[in-house]
Amino acid sequence: MSDKIYDVPSAWAERAYVDDARYQAMYAASVEDPNTFWGEHGKRIDWFQPYTKVKNTSFDPGHVSIKWFEDGITNVAYNCIDRHLEARGDQPAIIWEGDSPDESKVITYRELSSEVNKLANILRNRGVEKGDRVTIYLPMIPEAAYAMLACARLGAIHSIVFGGFSPDSLAGRVSDCGSKVIITADEGLRGGRKVPLKANVDAAINQIGDDSVDHVIVVRRTGGKVDMVPGRDVYYDEAAEQVTDECPPAHMSAEDPLFILYTSGSTGKPKGVLHTTGGYLVYASMTHQYIFDYHDGDVYWCTADVGWVTGHSYIVYGPLANGATTLMFEGVPNYPTTSRFWEVIDKHKVTIFYTAPTAIRSLMQGGEEPVKKTSRASLRLLGSVGEPINPEAWEWYHRVVGDERCPIVDTWWQTETGGILITPLPGATRLKPGSATRPFFGVLPEVVDAEGKVLTGACEGNLVIADSWPGQMRTVYGDHERFEQTYFSTYPGKYFTGDGCRRDEDGYYWITGRVDDVINVSGHRMGTAEVESALVAHPKVSEAAVVGFPHDIKGQGIYAYVTLMDGVEPTEELRKELVGWVRREIGPIASPDLIQFAPGLPKTRSGKIMRRILRKIAEDQFESLGDTSTLADPGVVEDLINNRQNKR
Ligand code: WTA
Repeated sequence: MSDKIYDVPSAWAERAYVDDARYQAMYAASVEDPNTFWGEHGKRIDWFQPYTKVKNTSFDPGHVSIKWFEDGITNVAYNCIDRHLEARGDQPAIIWEGDSPDESKVITYRELSSEVNKLANILRNRGVEKGDRVTIYLPMIPEAAYAMLACARLGAIHSIVFGGFSPDSLAGRVSDCGSKVIITADEGLRGGRKVPLKANVDAAINQIGDDSVDHVIVVRRTGGKVDMVPGRDVYYDEAAEQVTDECPPAHMSAEDPLFILYTSGSTGKPKGVLHTTGGYLVYASMTHQYIFDYHDGDVYWCTADVGWVTGHSYIVYGPLANGATTLMFEGVPNYPTTSRFWEVIDKHKVTIFYTAPTAIRSLMQGGEEPVKKTSRASLRLLGSVGEPINPEAWEWYHRVVGDERCPIVDTWWQTETGGILITPLPGATRLKPGSATRPFFGVLPEVVDAEGKVLTGACEGNLVIADSWPGQMRTVYGDHERFEQTYFSTYPGKYFTGDGCRRDEDGYYWITGRVDDVINVSGHRMGTAEVESALVAHPKVSEAAVVGFPHDIKGQGIYAYVTLMDGVEPTEELRKELVGWVRREIGPIASPDLIQFAPGLPKTRSGKIMRRILRKIAEDQFESLGDTSTLADPGVVEDLINNRQNKR
């Protein structure tokens, strides 16, 4: 916690869309009369047929239903492209910066239009229609944005799978939503290393069954050799030669699905978070404009990957709906050197920069010199997302990267929320390092205690949202009951975020992190249950329990307690083997940082693992283990403490 306060710089109070008085007035209007407020702001996108209804939502247990602008007809690709062509045809829509500093290109809105229409026709020629699911498994190349928008143009539902996920994870996501088409690349390129995307797709299809996927469209990224299955696989560039660049946008109802994005939760397999058309786009574009205070001429860069929700809302949909110039980066922060981010900012004259605390913390380790040798004079605003930003990292970001000139918007939100819910507005909000500050328009956060009692004033508890906002997820794909169960049953009538938070005397929110069995590793969500089920799939493992522990760079690391099968020797080699196993099963982001071989796990007499104790041990909080008297065998705790793994 930090008690420093940064005032809104005077230049900002003048130039921004919203100053503090306007924030207060707009916020009050938005929560007092959401129908009028959103009825007005819904007009920021173009509608083929205007809506007459605005909000129709219920969080009531058993009847959760969320509809916004339900009788309006529109198309997301039309809003992100066509409507800008007259005024902005020659303006850069996407600036692409490749993995290597020698590679970059600019795609104007006119070029974007032509590429998206062609890809839509390629898909249409392969039978893709409104409502069909298309899986996108691509690196950070412009084709990823073309693919999203081409699906939106046809009314197909895209499901992007992050390029770092394993064939097994990909297979699970392809079969859950029943995609018949996958768009991928021969290989990805990150930090000079190749990622075998097409080979992973082949392995995934092999696992699901050869007749599961009808078409694989392959972008040539590296030109690496891949197997092409005749009749199923086609190179993107070859298919593009066969089509025109005109494809009419499908007429979509506001509540027609736009995309599915799988995300980890406390239990079971990742859930398919479903977002729809109208409310999502209104919310993504409005938050992008106000929170980043985007004006014509700005160059906006969000360093996320399109495989995560941040890439959906704040690389592609929000910015393009606003006619912005959005930078898309294929590489990593430390390749070829740790100055890369700052060099890219200078090269493309980036004015707004949005990244994750984990990147800041890792670059901080290299000292100021790699930053200070660049100019960064173009920058005017910085943003942070994905996990709580510790005040030290905040201060460094502000002082070293932003030369004390640029406000920082610490934006709290989730895959489920579609867009940012709690955040400063740069012209309106005094900043406190480490606090996401105040709710965006239309957002009603509440802090509740374990019993669901709403706390008032300065307090600490669990964060819920009391009413709907237009960007909210509508359901878990194919499993509405799981949607209700996961988000609306803990505190009936309210959306439960899974996060803990503190509210201070100024009404500022400080997110303290997940209170469920989700861990946040470098801003990536991981379900402990997923890692556990990967571990127990190994023939030598009998049982596993996974918790998070504080990690200097990643925020949280993955700590796994593993019980081996009888007679198996706990060796250093086996430890490495298990780490490699999880990497292959799920993907590198799930690699355990520490594995402790434990002859026994702390269980209640009914056999339930007491994770609270495991968490405390992983956090080195041996004194605060709490009540261990209900354990079936209290003796296991001492062994666990004595063998605590410790190589941060
Ligand atoms: C965490 C990413 C603190 C939080 C957009 C949330 C944050 C989870 C912040 C969602 C922030 C995200 N401060 N914590 N500014 N932003 N989180 O779905 O725990 O990948 O529940 O969405 O990240 O992660 P997700």
